Amino acid sequence: MLAGKHILLIIGGGIAAFKTLELIRRLRERGAEVTPVLTAAGAQFVTPLSVSALAGKTVFQDLFDLNDEAEMGHIQLSRVADLVVVAPATADLMAKMAQGLANDLASTLLLATDTPVLLAPAMNVRMWQHPATQRNLATLRADGIATVGPNDGDMACGEFGPGRMAEPMEIVTEIAARLTDGPLRGKRILVTSGPTHEPIDPVRYIANRSSGAQGAALGQALAALGAEVVFVTGPADVPPPQGVNVVRVETAQQMLDAVQAALPADAAVFAAAVADWRVSSASDRKLKKSKDGLPELTFAENPDILKTVSRMEQGRPGLVVGFAAETDDVIDNATAKRRRKGCDWIVANDVSPATGIMGGTENAVILISDEGAETWDRAGKDVVARKLAARIAQALG
Ligand code: C5P
Repeated sequence: MLAGKHILLIIGGGIAAFKTLELIRRLRERGAEVTPVLTAAGAQFVTPLSVSALAGKTVFQDLFDLNDEAEMGHIQLSRVADLVVVAPATADLMAKMAQGLANDLASTLLLATDTPVLLAPAMNVRMWQHPATQRNLATLRADGIATVGPNDGDMACGEFGPGRMAEPMEIVTEIAARLTDGPLRGKRILVTSGPTHEPIDPVRYIANRSSGAQGAALGQALAALGAEVVFVTGPADVPPPQGVNVVRVETAQQMLDAVQAALPADAAVFAAAVADWRVSSASDRKLKKSKDGLPELTFAENPDILKTVSRMEQGRPGLVVGFAAETDDVIDNATAKRRRKGCDWIVANDVSPATGIMGGTENAVILISDEGAETWDRAGKDVVARKLAARIAQALG
């Protein structure tokens, strides 16, 4: 699947570097050629011998070795690949990249390259969450640099949270998605998915039964056609797809903020089941049982994300797709919804309990566009997702 593809792999100095050895194997198994570069800090974690043995090539370590041109000049080295992958991308490497520093081989290659770059960040959770790292991340993303991970979990330093490098196979999937020639190559597509949680107090919330299955299948199908997918998800039952940029949120307001931060995009698909209301009287302390009676909850309307984006005067995605879960008069209600929201397409489905669609594995949809209503056969949510992704590719073509 990666036959003939050439990856320049920069290994930074972090404990996750051991996983990069596995990454090299998985890439080579799939036919990729891997040219490894090891930073001085990286060489504290994995040996040049292991790296070059697994890559089947010399590992480049020193800027000045290259400068005598006995091997390959650094400019040339930075340009030979189809993709530059940095794994682990440490806080230090990210900071250097964001600032444009070039004081060793890795940072010089990253500054000199005109090839797409993918980072697999890995660092302590506090370092990841530090405003400086988040600022650098935003700068790098704005420069068009892609990321995979980091994931949440136990860390080698004994803490828990985001900062673990993505697993080797997740990185492989991401690399494959980027190097796969599909009709959506070069297109950026935003997908919202899952339910939202609207807090009542710190331990209680209002939610809905959306599993996030259709949104996840759609994210996967779009990525498989080569799209760069930003997947903004509420707390869903199913895991997010691989090979997409995942942004996790809880509330509708956070989802809107994440969507706005992810724009511009060529298309946006709103598959999330967003709560219509939030509790405006949400308490920051746990509500107690009281003799004075029941708590009174007051509600406020949530922002309508689909409508907000559909009606953007500047920077509106070229194609905006909404979903409509209906229980009666599906076509009429969904057609009216398309007009009310201002989106281009509505993917409508009948979620009356008898259909078993909500929370199930199948979906029967009607696609509503300015050409009218088109009924699709009932099929697995993955099949529906692939069909919709193919339609999106056609529309963006
Ligand atoms: O109005 P209704 O909730 O039925 O519309 C469903 C469509 O609108 C879905 O695409 C959903 O993702 C989107 N939506 C939204 N923000 C809301 C409510 C719904 O984006 N607050």
